[in-house]
Amino acid sequence: MKNFSLSDIKKPIAHELVQFETVFKSNLKSKVTLVDLVTKYLLKQKGKKIRPVLVLLSAKVAGGVTERTYRGATLVEMLHTATLVHDDVVDRAEKRRGLPSINAVWKNKVAVLMGDYLLSRGLLIAVENKDFDFLQTITNTVKRMSEGELLQISKTRKLDNDEETYYRIISDKTASLLSTCCEIGAMSTTDKTEEVSAMKEFGENLGMAFQIRDDILDYIGSSMIIGKTPGRDIKDKKLTLPLIYALRNCDKSDASAILKLIKSGEKIKDVEIVVNFVKEHGGLDYADRKALEFAEKAKKTLDIFPLSESKTALESLIDYIVTRKK
Ligand code: IPE
Ligand code: IPE
Ligand code: MG
Ligand code: MG
Repeated sequence: MKNFSLSDIKKPIAHELVQFETVFKSNLKSKVTLVDLVTKYLLKQKGKKIRPVLVLLSAKVAGGVTERTYRGATLVEMLHTATLVHDDVVDRAEKRRGLPSINAVWKNKVAVLMGDYLLSRGLLIAVENKDFDFLQTITNTVKRMSEGELLQISKTRKLDNDEETYYRIISDKTASLLSTCCEIGAMSTTDKTEEVSAMKEFGENLGMAFQIRDDILDYIGSSMIIGKTPGRDIKDKKLTLPLIYALRNCDKSDASAILKLIKSGEKIKDVEIVVNFVKEHGGLDYADRKALEFAEKAKKTLDIFPLSESKTALESLIDYIVTRKK
């Protein structure tokens, strides 16, 4: 596997991404000053733009970028931004994309309402342009994302997550949207159901690999690079794949000691102990292997499409996702 940089992957769609930025910005304007203030700040928090990239590349692979593709890309990035703003309230995160989070700057009230604003602006783009096929898909995705987050909360309360439930959570909270990006990209340009479903499946597997990598980064990332605070998942009592595996592969007494430590609080030293425990029991290696499995599955679903620059870019994006450092 080669090590691709995201900017290399974006090259074949550089022009389209500029167009996307314009549509995205113009759809955020509001008459309310506070809304505009927060939106300006959100535009300064630069994300990786993986979702619009997926929409654009999927469209190119399935036929070509259209007006509808830009609306699809805007819609998903807006929904994604909304969920991050909400997620940081739920997770009490202080940082996002290298800057203080919205809740850290304006408090939870503003963050919750801004998340709602972004979500509704995104859905409005589809309604106003009668993209009802987008609307159908995306509404279901919003439902699944909320379900995934809520299932995750109930698991953190009971502290009893297992591997199967973990996959269900990440499929709903993360893979559903990435899958929708690829589906919408294809739908924006073709009505061949076989191609649309291949893209959808590609996105689902890519999404699973993406969240597993995100959960690994919470163990190995540095705050400076990932732009958010690592160790947050342990503090929040989230049992993600590396920890689930480690707990299953150690003595019962060790497992209960670790769980007790996680339950007891959020001391920095305790987080360190848990991180070392996970490393020693092969939790990170296991999660890495699983991410690669999903990545391979994703690549296979692209077989039905002919070779093209955009298809190669999608394959490189998969490699980037499982090795990314932020
Ligand atoms: C973060 O997504 C939320 C997850 C699903 C893990 P990204 O890592 O794509 O966030 P940005 O947009 O680049 O900040
Ligand atoms: C992903 O979960 C968030 C969403 C799918 C909205 P996390 O809570 O793990 O995401 P980060 O790590 O804060 O970006
Ligand atoms: Mg979070
Ligand atoms: Mg995370």
